[in-house]
Amino acid sequence: MQQAVGTAIVVGSINRDIVAYVEHHPSPGETVLTARGSLFAGGKGANQAVAIARMGGAVSFVGRVGDDVFGAEMRAFMAGEGVDVDAVATVAGATTGLGLITVDASGQNAITVLSGANQMWDTLPLSFHAAARDIVVCQLEIPLPVVLAAFRQAKSAGARTVLNAAPFRPLGLDILNATDILVVNQLEASALAGRSMRDGSDTALAHSEPIGLLLDLGPQLVVVTLGADGVCLAGRDVPETRIPGRGVAAVDTTGAGDCFVGAFVAELLRGTDVVQAARTANAAAAISVTRHGAAASVPTRTEVDHALATKR
Ligand code: RIB
Repeated sequence: MQQAVGTAIVVGSINRDIVAYVEHHPSPGETVLTARGSLFAGGKGANQAVAIARMGGAVSFVGRVGDDVFGAEMRAFMAGEGVDVDAVATVAGATTGLGLITVDASGQNAITVLSGANQMWDTLPLSFHAAARDIVVCQLEIPLPVVLAAFRQAKSAGARTVLNAAPFRPLGLDILNATDILVVNQLEASALAGRSMRDGSDTALAHSEPIGLLLDLGPQLVVVTLGADGVCLAGRDVPETRIPGRGVAAVDTTGAGDCFVGAFVAELLRGTDVVQAARTANAAAAISVTRHGAAASVPTRTEVDHALATKR
C-alpha cells in the first residue's frame, strides 16, 4: 500500500458561501427570486484543503478569518474534516470572506467574493515550516505578496509548489518562476498566456496552445481543466496528455476546480505520477459536480476509487 510521504500546506482563502439556486443568473439590473439556497463552506483554499483531507492526505492550512460567527463555523468545519487549522489567524474587526453565488438550472455558477479577512495579512514571513517532501498550494484569492512569500519559503525548504491561478489575476514572473505545477481552467490559461478574456474575441485558446506558452514562463507542469471535457496536461518531461470528461449530469459546478486541485495534490503526496494523479482528480471533480456546495461536494477516497473501478 502507498503511504502519504508529506504534508500539503495550503496557503489561501476561507469563505462562507451563500448559494442561491436559480433558473437563470440575474442580468445587470435584474432581481431573481428563488426559494432554494443554502450556506456552505467555501473559499478556494479551504475547498482544496478539505479535498486533500478527504482523499487521505495530511494537510495544514494558513489563512485568515474574521472574528465573526462565519469564521468560527469555518474553523470548526475544517478542523472536523481533519485539516490542521493552527495557522488560521482571526483578524480582529474583520468579516470572514463571503462567496455570493448563484447556480443556474444547468449547474453553472456565477460567483462574487467579498474578500474580508482573506486580504488582511500583516505578518510576513508566514508561520509555516515546510519540508522537502511537502507541497505548498496557493490560489489567487489572497494578496499576491503572500503567494510569493509562501512559494519562496517552500522553495528554500526544497518543497514543491502548486499554484491554482484562480480567479485570474495578472501575475508577475516572480510567482510563475516559483511555481512547479500550474493548474488553471481554459479561460485562466488563455488569460495568463496573454489573451484577454474580455477583448471581444472572448474564446479560449485551444487547450494545448497556452500550455506551451505557460511552460515557457516557469512551471515544470501545466494542467488545464476543461470542465465537462476533462483535463489536458503537459510538462517539460511529460508529453501532452488528454484525459476525457466522465459524462456526468452536473447539478452544481461550484468548487469542481478546487476538488480537482485537492485530489491531485493528495495523489502527488502519495507518490502517484502526474498523469495518474490527474486521472484520479478528474474522477473526483466529476463526482463533486453531481452534488451541491463547494467543500461539501468533495468525495472521499473510497468514493473516488469506486468510481475509477467501475467506469474508466
Ligand atoms: O471555487 C469555488 C469557490 O470560489 C467558492 O467556494 C467561493 O467561495 C469562491 O472562493
